[in-house]
Amino acid sequence: MKSLMVQGAKILATGSAIPSSKLSNHQMSKIVETSDEWIFTRTGIKERRLLEGADQSLIDLAVSASKKALNKITMDPSKIDLIILATSSPNDLFGSASKIQCQIGATNAVAFDLTAACSGFVLGLVTASQFLQNNTYSNILVIGADVLSKWVDWSDRSTCILFGDAAGAALLQSCSIVDNSILNFQLNTDGNYAQHLSINYGKERLVHPHLNLYQGSFKYIYMNGKEVYKFAVFQVPLSILKCLHSSNISIEEVDWLLLHQANERILNAIREKLSISSDKIISNLRNYGNTSAASIPLALDETIQEGKILRNDLIVIAGFGAGLTWGTIIIRW
Ligand code: COA
Repeated sequence: MKSLMVQGAKILATGSAIPSSKLSNHQMSKIVETSDEWIFTRTGIKERRLLEGADQSLIDLAVSASKKALNKITMDPSKIDLIILATSSPNDLFGSASKIQCQIGATNAVAFDLTAACSGFVLGLVTASQFLQNNTYSNILVIGADVLSKWVDWSDRSTCILFGDAAGAALLQSCSIVDNSILNFQLNTDGNYAQHLSINYGKERLVHPHLNLYQGSFKYIYMNGKEVYKFAVFQVPLSILKCLHSSNISIEEVDWLLLHQANERILNAIREKLSISSDKIISNLRNYGNTSAASIPLALDETIQEGKILRNDLIVIAGFGAGLTWGTIIIRW
């Protein structure tokens, strides 16, 4: 990482929000031909939370997570300079960040969406840290939120069992260089494998025959599970090792490994490759499934609320997913 750091960046507070409606594996077996045993042994997931009805949206979850983070430090929302909403399931293709800006009263913040699927929160944190460390902004809200239940094919048992809806938020602030806690990052994309995980736009309807004008809509999630599995288990440990190496940090110094909560078997395979003990891995996907961009901030917030993460702990966070995009960020708490 080459960056012009004139000041430090730190996470001040986190918050998260989940819909109240649960869908267990048993209930899932009434929708598609599957079983609790199959889902749990292949993924580690027991249940997931889903947005209900037409009146709840991604924005409600994101606003709730953001307000919880703000309330923890009683920050006036007008002090926020920038809001980054990492999501692949916005309410509006032009972006949903501005609606969050308005609803939380962050009247002075510029707000934009960042699309990087399950790596979105990591890319959001890195983007925010650049604005803070180069002294452009002082307070930034990074949100990871997704409602992939709206985008799964509910007749495809290999994908609909995996995903859940949630939002998580982190408030970051600039600080002196000695207090800097965003230590390093390492990011990657390989578009050669984009077809393995996608929500593609489909050309469907001929609107004007003479002009050859078509108009379509987005399809549902397509995933080649085996390829995504192999990619994650191969590439994520390499990214983590590169990031640690370039920071002169050894594996033994890592206190917490927070991976995108995709699948318990992926988490364990990565942990084993890195020779990190199982008590250092943060995992909550049993209760929520894969919540895409929300998974890392949701798990981080829960672990903080449980009082497990202590001052000065070293947290290695890695995201991976569609793109394919993957990356690591190292944080000193
Ligand atoms: N319930 C029961 N059977 C199922 C099933 C389900 N929900 N989903 C698939 N199957 C069946 C398949 O039809 C197949 O049957 P067959 O052998 O008769 O053809 C069999 O189980 C094996 O399917 P396969 O796709 O090979 O399973 P798998 O071991 O690869 O596990 C995943 C599937 C999705 C759990 C796994 O590939 C995975 O976790 N991949 C990574 C996905 C991921 O994390 N994506 C997000 C990254 S951000």
